[in-house]
Amino acid sequence: MNIVIANDHGAVELKKRLAAWLEGQGHRVRNLGVDTEERVDYPDMAEQAVKEFRKGGYDLGIVLCGTGIGVSIAANKHKGIRCALIHDEFTARMAKEHNNANFIAMGGRVEYQTPPEKILEAFLNSEFQGGRHSQRVAKLDALM
Ligand code: RB5
Repeated sequence: MNIVIANDHGAVELKKRLAAWLEGQGHRVRNLGVDTEERVDYPDMAEQAVKEFRKGGYDLGIVLCGTGIGVSIAANKHKGIRCALIHDEFTARMAKEHNNANFIAMGGRVEYQTPPEKILEAFLNSEFQGGRHSQRVAKLDALM
């Protein structure tokens, strides 16, 4: 998969960890996030990821901040982006199966009960179920 990833200062270590894991799994990662603790504004980081994603050729965007909340709100302000804030393997799987999320968000300051790589893996291994979910996703996309 071709994946764009962006993060603020609240998720530097999580970004490095997930990017390394993804690359180890054979995915291509375009890192647009910060790699130091320099303070940046999470709406700007989400926007950069969205702009890159919209260039085409990407399968997924990953946005990360301290909680994942700010970047997910920001990403979802952009038309065509369905960004899911995932917490565990169940929400990761549902984000793909039901919502066909094209972006996911996680938090660098969140204490996940499951290793974040496993949460990401659950998303990557899932498929959109289509059917009744297709019309719901179409309604999401029509909201703005
Ligand atoms: C930055 O301090 C923090 O507010 C940000 O990373 C994120 O958690 C916002 O939702």
